[in-house]
Amino acid sequence: MSREFEVDEDYRFIGRTFAEYGRMFGIERGDLADRVILDCPGGPGSFTAVAARLTRRTLAVDPAYGPSVERLSARCRAAVDRTVSQLQRDPSRFVWDEYGDPETRGRYLRAAAERFLADYATHPGRYLQAALPSLPLPTDSVDLVLSGNLLFLYDDRLDAAFHVDAMLELARVAREELRVFPLHALDHEESALLAPTVERLRERGLTVERHAVPYEFQPGATETLVVSGTAGFDGR
Ligand SMILES: C[S@@+](CC[C@H](N)C(=O)[O-])C[C@H]1O[C@@H](n2cnc3c(N)ncnc32)[C@H](O)[C@@H]1O
Repeated sequence: MSREFEVDEDYRFIGRTFAEYGRMFGIERGDLADRVILDCPGGPGSFTAVAARLTRRTLAVDPAYGPSVERLSARCRAAVDRTVSQLQRDPSRFVWDEYGDPETRGRYLRAAAERFLADYATHPGRYLQAALPSLPLPTDSVDLVLSGNLLFLYDDRLDAAFHVDAMLELARVAREELRVFPLHALDHEESALLAPTVERLRERGLTVERHAVPYEFQPGATETLVVSGTAGFDGR
């Protein structure tokens, strides 16, 4: 039986496509072959559904997983509609090179959600209900972790201790590397929690670098955080 988690609607249940993930994290199809990948939080994104065919194994973790496809579908629809309305009200806050306009961004979100929902129905084993900062996964159990649009973005509701604990947990699970995007918060400024979090990770002996990526939606948010040297790291 799945454990019930409190799912805060403030963490918007929208997801990106596989192609957007490639640009956000600066990874290419060839980087995925033969690897085991964790997408956390997976949300209603299509990365896992597509990557599962290109990798040894791909797994998505999110506290919102567990309900029926119908319930998740309704939640996704409401979240996408709310997002598109917000974008239509104030498009000038974003850079539109990637999507062109709010309606196209909505089409991307709906395409990702459809692909996710179909895969969630047919391959439930790829979608694990769990919440950072504690994952029910063994140390070094995946090669690469991708973490998009939660850490740093929601720094108004996830505090400094949560960020450090979550990053250490993701680094524990990753055998090779952890990538996080974006480094900017919802106010579009670089998160004030970035520098102190990086400092804590370096103190634990992890290598942390910023890599430029070919994706920009929040103005100036064009870097992913790459944490390496995670092999054997036990999270403490
Ligand atoms: C905006 S979505 C991002 C989804 C996907 N990574 C992407 O970039 O498209 C944020 C997700 O974070 C999830 N979330 C909220 N709290 C979490 C936690 N403590 N641990 C892991 N995921 C969490 C939410 O359920 C939601 O699906």
